[in-house]
Amino acid sequence: MKIKNICCIGAGYVGGPTMTVIADKCPDLQIDVVDLNEKRIEDWNNNDFTKLPIYEPGLADIVKRRRGKNLHFSNLIKEKIENADLVFISVNTPTKKKGVGAGKASDLKWVEACARQVAEFSKGHTIVVEKSTLPVRTAEVIKSILFASYNLNEDKETEKTFDVLSNPEFLSEGTAIKDLENPDRVLIGGEKEEAIEALCSVYRCWVPEEKILKTNIWSSELAKLTANAFLAQRISSINSISALCEATGADIREVSRAIGSDTRIGSKFLVSGPGFGGSCFKKDILNLVYLSNHFGLPEVANFWESVVELNKWNQKRISELIVKKLYGSVSGKKISILGFAFKANTNDTRESAAINICKDLLEEGAILYIHDPKVESNQIAKDLNLEPLKESFTEHESLRNSEIGNWYFANSIRESLTGADAVILLTEWDEYTCIDWREASNLMRKPSWIFDSRSILNPEKIKASCLNFWRIGDGSIN
Ligand code: UDX
Ligand code: ADP
Repeated sequence: MKIKNICCIGAGYVGGPTMTVIADKCPDLQIDVVDLNEKRIEDWNNNDFTKLPIYEPGLADIVKRRRGKNLHFSNLIKEKIENADLVFISVNTPTKKKGVGAGKASDLKWVEACARQVAEFSKGHTIVVEKSTLPVRTAEVIKSILFASYNLNEDKETEKTFDVLSNPEFLSEGTAIKDLENPDRVLIGGEKEEAIEALCSVYRCWVPEEKILKTNIWSSELAKLTANAFLAQRISSINSISALCEATGADIREVSRAIGSDTRIGSKFLVSGPGFGGSCFKKDILNLVYLSNHFGLPEVANFWESVVELNKWNQKRISELIVKKLYGSVSGKKISILGFAFKANTNDTRESAAINICKDLLEEGAILYIHDPKVESNQIAKDLNLEPLKESFTEHESLRNSEIGNWYFANSIRESLTGADAVILLTEWDEYTCIDWREASNLMRKPSWIFDSRSILNPEKIKASCLNFWRIGDGSIN
């Protein structure tokens, strides 16, 4: 089973960067990334490399290097599947909104559609690899669809055969290229040694042998969910202690440092913040919850569900304390929101804590001036389910009397701060650490408040600028 042509279905946050790095590391392979979404493909083919559909540090340079050589983006789903020895399925698997398992189970309709496309268009032998985060036993679904197409072919010449592998992606947005180029491990789950070996040969181009772990297919699927659940659990744990720090006078940064230096605990994923976001953590935990309930393990389900519940509570806690500090009302007040992405160095807003916090403040009647270096206005409008104001608040002081929450897209940090009663920092973008707080203080309406939910600002400089200051988990100042 020698791999020459790879087709990846889904040109999103996982498929795009992963295939770009494989193309770069394996110049002898031809990689085709296909997607139903024509605009997305058009953007991947844009000659202005700052306009790629995904922002990831380092990604544009590699796309520039490989695109048109051994990396191609197109909507030619049929042709590229036909031609492929190996197909990665890398499509979205959002949580189901209705029906059985609503709110917990993943909606597999896109994965199912892909399996049907592969069953219909593939020729000869094809290795099908699950790349998207999927509930355990999805491989079974894919297999049953693929293997049903066996029977359609009586002619030996055109017979189709398949192997199904699980190869979950562990990249983290914002550091995707680094994570792909130097992974902690590559996990491959499967049944047939030959197929596993074929996929290993792709990774061996740059990943040391000892980092390639082989398991059975179910362990591989479950390991992905478990890794994300463990990481998310650490964040909920530290955020719960953060609230206790604020109540007792302790400082979460000191507590994190103290516990993180225990080698059994380790220092990563102990940064307290507004709550985890991103497309994976919540979805994967809810999958575990669904799975545990399904197999009659309600205690296990409740344990994991509490990680998501605490995350929700943490976001609510922050919006409530902002309203409280602003004298019990934010109605008609201008509030600067710094950062909307779920973390720095990405334009992704899926499950961002900013969405819920902004919605709460809009509900209270605030006028939000939202700034983010990479997230576009139309994405924020979609997330908040509200179109932005067309004209700036500064020209419409009358909005202060409005009781209806509104938002405006701030093109600069300065615009967002001018006349604001409060600044709420929600994403840890580097550029927010360079704000001149003396100047900011002159621009803002007094008394002004700064809320740092990511602990990246310098408290001394802010306090010296006559600004009121709150930061997460700091019991000494709250
Ligand atoms: C995560 C996993 O890390 C990755 O392995 C998996 O493949 C996909 O899901 P991602 O969601 O891209 O990656 O980003 P991650 O860095 O894990 O951050 C997730 C959320 O947790 C972000 O909102 C981040 O701000 C938050 N976080 C992270 C904290 O609040 N504190 C921390 O210490 C770390
Ligand atoms: P992820 O973060 O998992 O990569 P994204 O939503 O960013 O998720 O990307 C998934 C991509 O998969 C989208 O661009 C979507 O258009 C594409 N997609 C979904 N179903 C299909 C399908 N049946 N065939 C081709 N592309 C698909």
